[in-house]
Amino acid sequence: MSTAYLETTRNVYKAAAEKPDVGLCCTTTPVWQLPGLDVPVIMQQMNYGCGSTVNPGDLVNSPKILYVGVGGGMELLQFAYFSRQIKGVIGIDVVDEMLEASKRNFNEAEKLNPWFKKEFVDLRKGDALNLPVEDNSVDCAAQNCLFNIFKQAELKQALKEMYRVLKPRGRLVMSDPICEAEIPEILREDEKLRALCLSGSLTLKEYIRMITDAGFGTVEIRARRPYRILGPANYATDRIIFIESVEVCAIKDPMPSDGPCVFTGKTAIYYGQEAMFDDEKGHLFLPNQPLAVCDKTAGALKSLNRKDIFISESTWFYDGGGRC
Ligand SMILES: C[S@@+](CC[C@H](N)C(=O)[O-])C[C@H]1O[C@@H](n2cnc3c(N)ncnc32)[C@H](O)[C@@H]1O
Repeated sequence: MSTAYLETTRNVYKAAAEKPDVGLCCTTTPVWQLPGLDVPVIMQQMNYGCGSTVNPGDLVNSPKILYVGVGGGMELLQFAYFSRQIKGVIGIDVVDEMLEASKRNFNEAEKLNPWFKKEFVDLRKGDALNLPVEDNSVDCAAQNCLFNIFKQAELKQALKEMYRVLKPRGRLVMSDPICEAEIPEILREDEKLRALCLSGSLTLKEYIRMITDAGFGTVEIRARRPYRILGPANYATDRIIFIESVEVCAIKDPMPSDGPCVFTGKTAIYYGQEAMFDDEKGHLFLPNQPLAVCDKTAGALKSLNRKDIFISESTWFYDGGGRC
């Protein structure tokens, strides 16, 4: 399979580094603001992501963080806010001009934020497909709007690399477009559209499958939002194609013997007459107390056909607190 499209991608982001392009590829969500954090305007203009990968809950105890595909550096600054250690955030990018632009942006950030030192960020030239990072060395790895550009073989390799560098129980946090509709081959093969995060998306099921095939035992769907429309007036399609974006956290937990735990926001509520319901698989349900469950557990509960257990649909908004 040809990987020539990767060069087009590099060229697109070389141009986006040399001349900030507001709204270039992604940006549908407001910028994460934190107390005492002043994000330079240039970083906001170079926000080429489609959600946030920065979640305080992932970032306790000064974690070691890896960010792949740095863009203007905004999310690295947000990560550094939590990490606050020299070289606490490793930033990797394959495009020299993007690394230079982000370096300038970190200098700017240092002027605006008394708590921030540019040495908190360790910028390295490198490729998502061959990370210049040691095995099992990172607590939290992130990428925003890069992996959707990759075709299947490269996506598999990029996920394998993230898995390799994460410590056991480490977290891979990602934000990417997904698409449930069929994207015509002519759009999929359009290298520029792919680079702009518009035509490489997988369905959510395929995306999750790629993650779990890489070995991640737990997956959380944290957000799912409308993203873009490709319509006949502007693109080579005879139908409207609806694209969404997702925020996902994949945890390097051991793979359960009965398959991965994928939390999509399903919740089970026991509303029977007993003091509790025990499914004898590690879940205790107290009356009328919601318990977030993974899709596998939701399916097992449903197959019991009980009249006193309610199982919600996926909310696509899972923020912890469940049991698998
Ligand atoms: C869509 S932009 C996203 C930038 C940033 N994550 C954000 O949210 O603003 C993709 C980024 O990945 C970089 N990139 C492209 N191909 C790459 C590769 N093979 N390995 C590492 N970085 C790459 C680009 O230079 C660019 O910085």
